[in-house]
Amino acid sequence: MKKFIVVAIAIMMVATLFAGGKKEPAVEAKKTITVGYAQVGAESDWRLANTESFKTTFTEANGYDLIFVDAQQKQENQIKAIRNFIQQDVDYIVVAPVVETGWETVLTEAKNAKIPVILSDRQMQVSDDSLYLCWVGGNFLKEGRDGVKWLESYLAEKGRADEQINIVDLQGTIGASAQIGRTQGIEEGVAANANWNLVAQQSGDFTQDGGQKVMEAILKSVGADNIDVVFAENDNMAWGAIDSIKAAGKVPGKDIIIITFDAVHESFNRMIAGEINCAVECNPLHGPRVDEIIKTLEAGGTVDKIMYVTEEVFDEKNAAARINTRAY
Ligand code: AHR
Repeated sequence: MKKFIVVAIAIMMVATLFAGGKKEPAVEAKKTITVGYAQVGAESDWRLANTESFKTTFTEANGYDLIFVDAQQKQENQIKAIRNFIQQDVDYIVVAPVVETGWETVLTEAKNAKIPVILSDRQMQVSDDSLYLCWVGGNFLKEGRDGVKWLESYLAEKGRADEQINIVDLQGTIGASAQIGRTQGIEEGVAANANWNLVAQQSGDFTQDGGQKVMEAILKSVGADNIDVVFAENDNMAWGAIDSIKAAGKVPGKDIIIITFDAVHESFNRMIAGEINCAVECNPLHGPRVDEIIKTLEAGGTVDKIMYVTEEVFDEKNAAARINTRAY
């Protein structure tokens, strides 16, 4: 049974006033909406901003009871969290899926329990789209392609368009939408530019430590002099890779072009400092978007199945002018 919290004290006060012969306006019953959020984890600064966005939006004052679960980047933990949400008979389930596949069974359980599932951030690949209500997030393939477009024009501007360009792709968690889209972007770029070579491609799991360790190993195996570009599929991996590049005696942003994704505040600082050349935005502020979806549904409205958010590309040219306008 769904939970309705009646403002009992207010009703008792009104009843008392009526008993005393005074008329007061009727008090409306207020409904608290219970939302279970199965978050990926706390692997990156982007993720922390996303968690903050949900926690500051889904408040009691805003009419919500938020049950937040950090799945520590494990799909099995998210599946367990969803099953717990079903048991607790929440009103809505929100999931930022760690990976795209493997969700049919648990989503069917949510559907049978008549609990709507909203996907946020990353997507799911399911055989039956009716297993979830809608999705809101960034367009990861477009982000990857935007990074490639930026690199093409940067190389042309520097007179390097015809040089052999050796690229390292530091991938995110394999199977996550953000990895799939951004990896496809760079692979398309390499296929379209005969002089671009993908010299290494490995996952750093979207963490700073992962980026640092994977880059350290790649610098050893490929050789620092043989790397022109690092295409880091998120900010934290880029920062870790920068540490390894410095330790190898190279200057990030100069000797090796650094392209990153997310564009959180620290990457703006690093663009201004010249360490990062380009940061493609991935917007984490999905809390208010999911709130709007739920409020629309509660009011009897409908929402689009797929909702992409608008994102920008920043680089060393506009970072200083834009840093103070950034919310995360
Ligand atoms: O799914 C969004 C990605 O996940 C962000 O790029 C990354 O930083 C996060 O961990």
